[in-house]
Amino acid sequence: MPEPKDKCVLWGEDGGLLWTHKYPELFPQIFSGIDPFQIREIFDGGCGFGSSTLCLADFFPQSRIWAVSLGERPKEGVMNKLGRRLVYRTQKIIDSLAENRRQFDLVFLGNVVYPFLEDTNNLEGNGYPDLSRSVRAGGYVLEVEQLSLRENQMKRTGFIIIGKQEEFNGKDYRYRLWCKK
Ligand SMILES: C[S@@+](CC[C@H](N)C(=O)[O-])C[C@H]1O[C@@H](n2cnc3c(N)ncnc32)[C@H](O)[C@@H]1O
Repeated sequence: MPEPKDKCVLWGEDGGLLWTHKYPELFPQIFSGIDPFQIREIFDGGCGFGSSTLCLADFFPQSRIWAVSLGERPKEGVMNKLGRRLVYRTQKIIDSLAENRRQFDLVFLGNVVYPFLEDTNNLEGNGYPDLSRSVRAGGYVLEVEQLSLRENQMKRTGFIIIGKQEEFNGKDYRYRLWCKK
């Protein structure tokens, strides 16, 4: 199936349209001034069918992507296309960050609605220190569409906002780009 250049289009096995994204249009704007080749280790939290994963892999050609999700999982076509560049687990974001021993260049949270860094089963649960530990100094966290991260917690754990669009203009998505000090 043809894929329009400014969109990421994900087709189901039956040929039906599963998802379409404007990430390919948005990423150059968000990451202007950042060399895509320097982003090598990416965490895609709540990857769903894997359309965000595909867009990230395209925009960051040297990257390996650690993806987790609940409910949906990356489509076989996504797994096949990315091969060893993609490591997927069915897991909660908060649990994955808690056990993670890596430092990512970029943590991507695309359209994840749930307040995913607070574990509702455990009111003590707070994933912000784990998120901070999982991002290298000078690395990034990008949240798109759903801006669920709490500003006070992010600031307390060492992040500053370096880019944002908080209003929809009908064309693009809302986003906040955080950098770890
Ligand atoms: C709307 S989809 C977005 C998929 C992808 N990030 C994108 O932008 O194309 C959100 C996905 O995140 C998953 N999800 C939501 N909360 C989550 C959590 N706390 N941990 C892991 N996955 C989660 C959902 O099950 C769903 O598959």
